[in-house]
Amino acid sequence: MRQMKTAVRYYSRGGNTRKLAEAIGKAVGAEAKTTDAPVTEYVDILFLGSAVYATGVDDHIKTFIDGLDPQKIGKVVNFSTAALLPSTYSQVQKLLAEKKIELSEKEFHCRGQFAFLHRGKPDAEDIQNCVEFAKGMVK
Ligand SMILES: Cc1cc2nc3c(=O)[nH]c(=O)nc-3n(C[C@H](O)[C@H](O)[C@H](O)COP(=O)(O)O)c2cc1C
Repeated sequence: MRQMKTAVRYYSRGGNTRKLAEAIGKAVGAEAKTTDAPVTEYVDILFLGSAVYATGVDDHIKTFIDGLDPQKIGKVVNFSTAALLPSTYSQVQKLLAEKKIELSEKEFHCRGQFAFLHRGKPDAEDIQNCVEFAKGMVK
């Protein structure tokens, strides 16, 4: 079977989601880039990382998804951090549905440090879990 093509994009204000993105990038052999970098070649899996700010995803995520070419994306795999919300899945799903881009049912989410909450998160264990998740997605 041919090698699966992957890309990693993320938007991270404080660095928490970036930690996951970089771990995923290493695990799947793709450079983790911010959502400022468009996806220019076909990928089987686009790992897309976001976080929750005042209950929503950042406009960078909205603009990035809006700019995706559905022909170039096999499916998206969501990963996210937040202090309280369980995930950004439903928000990302809504945006992708408008573009008719498939979103995997599987996702990775963990707590992200916010002020005095969840200090040190994502921690080493979260990163390890994230790496295993990513490897499982490209098997
Ligand atoms: C301005 C701001 C607003 C936030 N609002 C929420 C929120 O409504 N719900 C929540 O679960 N977390 C909220 N958080 C916490 C972030 O989702 C969490 O710290 C996340 O890990 C940030 O990711 P980042 O470091 O990649 O930017 C907020 C954080 C910031 C900075």
